[in-house]
Amino acid sequence: MGCNLWATTAAWTFLYIVQVLSADSSLFQDLGLSTLPDVTKINISQDEYTRMMSLYLDSRQQHSTEDSIPKLITFYAVKRDWWPNREDSRLKFPIRPSSQEMEVESAQLRILAPAFVDGHSTAVRIQVNQVLGVRRRRLVDEKVIYLSPNLTKWCEFEVTSAVQSWFNGERNLGLELVCIDCRNNYLKPVEAAISALVYPEHRRFRRASSPYQPARRTDCRESRKGTKRKCCRHNMIVKFAELKFPEMVSIVQPKSYEAGFCQGQCPPNYNHATNHSRIQSLLHQMDRKNAKRLNRRAIPKACCTPSKLEPLEILRVNPSDNTKLIVEKWDNMQVIECACS
Ligand SMILES: *[C@@H]1O[C@H](CO)[C@@H](O)[C@H](O)[C@H]1NC(C)=O
Ligand SMILES: *[C@@H]1O[C@H](CO)[C@@H](O)[C@H](O)[C@H]1NC(C)=O
Ligand SMILES: *[C@@H]1O[C@H](CO)[C@@H](O)[C@H](O)[C@H]1NC(C)=O
Repeated sequence: MGCNLWATTAAWTFLYIVQVLSADSSLFQDLGLSTLPDVTKINISQDEYTRMMSLYLDSRQQHSTEDSIPKLITFYAVKRDWWPNREDSRLKFPIRPSSQEMEVESAQLRILAPAFVDGHSTAVRIQVNQVLGVRRRRLVDEKVIYLSPNLTKWCEFEVTSAVQSWFNGERNLGLELVCIDCRNNYLKPVEAAISALVYPEHRRFRRASSPYQPARRTDCRESRKGTKRKCCRHNMIVKFAELKFPEMVSIVQPKSYEAGFCQGQCPPNYNHATNHSRIQSLLHQMDRKNAKRLNRRAIPKACCTPSKLEPLEILRVNPSDNTKLIVEKWDNMQVIECACS
């Protein structure tokens, strides 16, 4: 009787997390996106990245309900300090402690990597280290990148924690790229830049009460211990990287978003979505006793489900051109309100 788990936690994103564990169909195909990007061939130049990221942020500003949109800041590697000798493979960026408190949403190290073949493979595992002292290093990112045997190619690493620490006042001694699978242990980029999405300080305080969004009518509030919670909207942050599909790397922004889900009891006359659910709820009440007597299932209760959804702005690699990005709007990605239906 009542609502089963699936109907209750109706945010579809949650279903996919479960599905990852049980099946290996592609999320992109299920979303109706027919062509899949070849993740080993993605080659987005710094100019294309900057241009399309600005467009994406403008689009987010116009269409979303967030109270603040981050700013894009690009830091180019300081050429003066560029690879002075083979031993020191440091990349330095002009990022200094900020007098204003800065919150870094995400920061990507983007490099134009040289043509590369080592043995038969162009796939190499790279570690990005933050330099802390003569011998001290902190691992910031580690991943496999796919290079080209005869052309330069753009690659990306996640360096949010390093950039945040420099803004916070840690001494900026640069980053180091260590190539785990390479014979000579390092990769020398032709170009390098850091693209950071940054919020000025005020956001930090607003966010404490509700991540990314102003409080809404059906948002869950603190419930008293022991009482069963009535139908309301819970927070649920989806990180695309945690949905383990290989194509996820082709989503440039957002890295994560507040999807929300609906869960809770639907007692009679509580927050009905439609007139239909009012009637169904009433019939459920009346039918309960009869059903018990006749040993059959009663007409079900109304379920706590999304009653208002919003689209999500996505910046991703153009599936028909690996060197371009596109801004898209994916429908019904975020639950805004819940009701009994
Ligand atoms: C990647 O793009 C750059 C220009 O941004 C170009 O010079 C390079 O040849 C491309 N590499 C590949 C493998 O297509
Ligand atoms: C680069 O290498 C690939 C694979 O070996 C080959 O198909 C392509 O023709 C080469 N391109 C150039 C410009 O040499
Ligand atoms: C049905 O629902 C709508 C919208 O919630 C409401 O305006 C209307 O008065 C309800 N009743 C009938 C009999 O249509």
